[in-house]
Amino acid sequence: MRHLGIIMDGNGRWAVSRGQERLSGHAEGAKAVARAIEAALECRLECITFYAFSTENFKRGVQETLGIFSVLAGFLENTLLPLVKEKKLRVRFIGDLKRLTPELLETLSKVNVAGLNNTGMTVVIALAYGGREEIATAFNMLLERRLINLDASPITYDEISRYLYTAGLPEPDAVVRFGGYKRLSNFLPLQSAYSEFFFTEKLWPDFQKEDLYKICAEYQKIKRNFGDIPK
Ligand code: IPE
Ligand code: IPE
Ligand code: MG
Repeated sequence: MRHLGIIMDGNGRWAVSRGQERLSGHAEGAKAVARAIEAALECRLECITFYAFSTENFKRGVQETLGIFSVLAGFLENTLLPLVKEKKLRVRFIGDLKRLTPELLETLSKVNVAGLNNTGMTVVIALAYGGREEIATAFNMLLERRLINLDASPITYDEISRYLYTAGLPEPDAVVRFGGYKRLSNFLPLQSAYSEFFFTEKLWPDFQKEDLYKICAEYQKIKRNFGDIPK
């Protein structure tokens, strides 16, 4: 497996079931991200994408949104930044980043800069990310380019993919969703067209490294045909 996508769902339920505030579930979820990065390194993944905050999650209101952003900022500064240096990680943030707060953007750029010359595993963090918004943004950039060039030739998927936030990254071989639901919730809808899907009831804060080992092992047994006759 080169690239695994993770839909980290269930933080809120994890906290509520313990009689705690939702925010403590997000904090515990951030600790799980660190475990997942370690496991991904051990499994020698090239790339791992974490779905941290969707364009739709802004509906949750200011308190939850800013709470999640502050947990995220703490995680980036205190956990990811040292890992970037120690493990030579590359980092990529994907999403409509202009919707983030200036403080969070500053932390993002700090982490970004730290990983610029690294050659290790790529950690992708999707925040203020929505697949539909990504596609619309890509088409608008493509349209602008084509108007400038007076180009009306047919559009290909390869061309579209060069305008997606994920341009240059391998498409996810597998996507796993924690938290019991079996839906994408706007996560990499184009890029996951041929991904293998894994679903688990486990809530994200309960993630253990063994969960990732198991997915990698399961994936090894699976053959993707991409429409061809199995060989
Ligand atoms: C996932 O956990 C984290 C984000 C969406 C930011 P949730 O906050 O959605 O947790 P549940 O689904 O309410 O339990
Ligand atoms: C998916 O979880 C988004 C992230 C994990 C960031 P949600 O909790 O937002 O998904 P829905 O609303 O249940 O579809
Ligand atoms: Mg949820």
